[in-house]
Amino acid sequence: MTIDVLPDTINAVYVVAVIVFILGLKAMSSPETARRGILFAGVAMLIAVLVTFLSPGLSNFAWIALGVAIGGLAGWYWARVVQMTAMPQMVAMFNGMGGGAAAAIAAVELLSSLSNVAIAGLSIAGGVIGSISIAGSVIAFLKLQGWLRSKPIVLPARQVVNTVVLVVGVGFGAFALLRTDTVWLLPFFVVLLLYGILLTLPIGGADMPVVISLFNALTGIAVALDGFALVNGPLGDAGYAMVIAGTLVGAAGSLLTLLMAKAMNRSVANVFFGAFGATEETGGPIQGQMKPIDASDAAVLMAYANQVIIVPGYGMAVAQAQQKVKELADLLESKGVTVKFGIHPVAGRMPGHMNVLLAEAGISYDKLFDRDEINAEFPSTDVVLVLGANDVVNPAAHRKGSPLEGMPILDVEQAKNVIVIKRGQGKGFAGIENDLFYRDNCRMLYGDAQQVVGKLVSELKK
Ligand code: TAP
Repeated sequence: MTIDVLPDTINAVYVVAVIVFILGLKAMSSPETARRGILFAGVAMLIAVLVTFLSPGLSNFAWIALGVAIGGLAGWYWARVVQMTAMPQMVAMFNGMGGGAAAAIAAVELLSSLSNVAIAGLSIAGGVIGSISIAGSVIAFLKLQGWLRSKPIVLPARQVVNTVVLVVGVGFGAFALLRTDTVWLLPFFVVLLLYGILLTLPIGGADMPVVISLFNALTGIAVALDGFALVNGPLGDAGYAMVIAGTLVGAAGSLLTLLMAKAMNRSVANVFFGAFGATEETGGPIQGQMKPIDASDAAVLMAYANQVIIVPGYGMAVAQAQQKVKELADLLESKGVTVKFGIHPVAGRMPGHMNVLLAEAGISYDKLFDRDEINAEFPSTDVVLVLGANDVVNPAAHRKGSPLEGMPILDVEQAKNVIVIKRGQGKGFAGIENDLFYRDNCRMLYGDAQQVVGKLVSELKK
């Protein structure tokens, strides 16, 4: 079955889809409009997929429809049931699928057009990047899901072994190209999948958001390269759409990767090759003692404050304490206390983690302040409530030689009183002690974030 639609009409629809993609990306740059951005991107993808069905020369409709149905249903179901804290691994898997699709398109192009050097060259490049991306994303998923050791798995002489594996894999692709022989394609893909696994194993679970973001960028580039290869084939116009969409994903993913690395004060190379977290760092002995406080004293301190700044971190996400936090903020405000939230860009384990959770609890965006906006307010603030955050408030970042040296932090230690909610002596992701907890103005309120904030709410209601 073929439907006659002019190529120009199809191209015009692709241009519309691309414009909607760009509008979606723009809207995603702010938490207030991010929902709309996701919707726009989804609509753009739907337009692009539907119009591709009208491409002249497209066949195998039943197979394509079956693939769309399986993928669509699985994605729809998973997205509906996923917990907010499991979002990073879902993104890893969805991104991996993109890499896998790019590798599969490259494989098909190579099998059909190996003699065309231009198409085959582009497909080899798309195959290299797509294979590394899907294999790496699967490892990222397994680590985040807890099905594989989260800590770096460091194999002996890994840099040398990895380099050799990469060279051998690319070499197989070069053989296939130079000898115009498809027999080299299987080892080409297998070895590059192996490289993706070896590259990702030595990276710690908490670095995975940066890794996923980079794999996402790589997937975009692979899709764009496949698009260039397709342009010369019967579905040429779909190739143009893939080039543009892939380039957009590549650019957005690269920027996000760099922003995250910058906020952690690490280079992307350090994230990938540094095996961060493989060894324990102590950061040196700290003078003083941690001083506990109970929920009723903490509640009194907050109730009589002019301003309370709440600084959430990974522990709030683990405890799913955001609804209780909303109750606490409402109660304090009803008592005339100004409540603000200080949000660090890498608090939690994924970009925008805190914003998403607080928004889910109905806390309005105008109460959320980023580091640059809120830091000047700490010295005049009566109480800062640090809720399951650690590294993002660790003054060690100001100390030379510390593993956190130079990381821009929230300077909560300058507040008049700091109350830290955490379960015990657990360290943050960086694995170093936090001398904030030993300062004179700091009190420790031990327990699970959700339960402890619940206690604070009950105390305030008394
Ligand atoms: P962390 O430094 O990881 O500290 C979290 C603290 O929460 C821990 O000290 C832990 O102490 C406490 N905690 C855990 N479960 C809890 C619970 N149920 N109730 C109460 N407290 C709990 O978190 P952070 O300050 O948000 O910093 C994020 C770190 O992740 C940074 O080092 C950042 O560079 C890194 N990172 C972030 C991202 C992104 S994009 N967000 C990406 C990669 C890496 P206890 O065990 O004592 O409770």
